[in-house]
Amino acid sequence: MTRVEFFTGPAIAPQINRLSALRIAVFQEWPYLYDGSLSSEQGFMEGFAQSTTAGIAIAFDGDEPVGASTCLAMTEEDDHVTLPFREAGLDLSKFCYFGESVLLAKYRGQGIGVRFFELREAHARTLPGVESTTFCAVQRPQSHLLRPADAIPLDNFWRRRGYLPTDLICTMRWKQVDSTEKVENRLRFWTKRL
Ligand SMILES: CC(C)(COP(=O)(O)OP(=O)(O)OC[C@H]1O[C@@H](n2cnc3c(N)ncnc32)[C@H](O)[C@@H]1OP(=O)(O)O)[C@@H](O)C(=O)NCCC(=O)NCCS
Repeated sequence: MTRVEFFTGPAIAPQINRLSALRIAVFQEWPYLYDGSLSSEQGFMEGFAQSTTAGIAIAFDGDEPVGASTCLAMTEEDDHVTLPFREAGLDLSKFCYFGESVLLAKYRGQGIGVRFFELREAHARTLPGVESTTFCAVQRPQSHLLRPADAIPLDNFWRRRGYLPTDLICTMRWKQVDSTEKVENRLRFWTKRL
């Protein structure tokens, strides 16, 4: 039996170790292809747990976390994430940023991803001044060699949650499962007015 719970602040900390392993496992797959390390993941999560605006939805099967999805006030995000918003003259304080969603494959298609959006949007509504939510998705060519034959683009899933793609693009560098060095990836922002 799966359930999804939402955690903020200090309540995130006890989940960090098991969540980091889960995130690493799903990040290695399509579409992230991120070859991460447990220590950098734990470092990220520890910093995240200290933020007063951070929230994380976690899906559990019994006691075991099987999926997670983060959010944070855009004002607290890293410069490389906020750059396109600042360049476009947008007010960061009006946005809540939704970070990565990860869910083990066997739990997909059961409504957990929908719940991740509902819970994060409910959290965003509690943040003073926030009017919109946003996330960015890595852009991968259809012809990418590591694209699974059965991979379904999430564009329609996001549109059905009320999100629209924007012209805002950020770049992030990470070491991929198919590279020896860090690779620059382009990610497109999608937004929704709450
Ligand atoms: C993105 C991801 C979290 C989506 O999660 P998911 O749990 O498979 O998605 P859901 O099951 O909630 O939704 C998929 C569809 O099933 C439907 N659905 C199936 N069972 C449902 C239920 N019991 N309750 C509600 N919706 C249900 C949803 O409504 C949705 O259809 P719709 O878009 O037509 O409304 C998941 O695919 C994943 O982890 N992918 C790999 C990592 C990734 O790509 N992350 C995002 C990159 S930015």
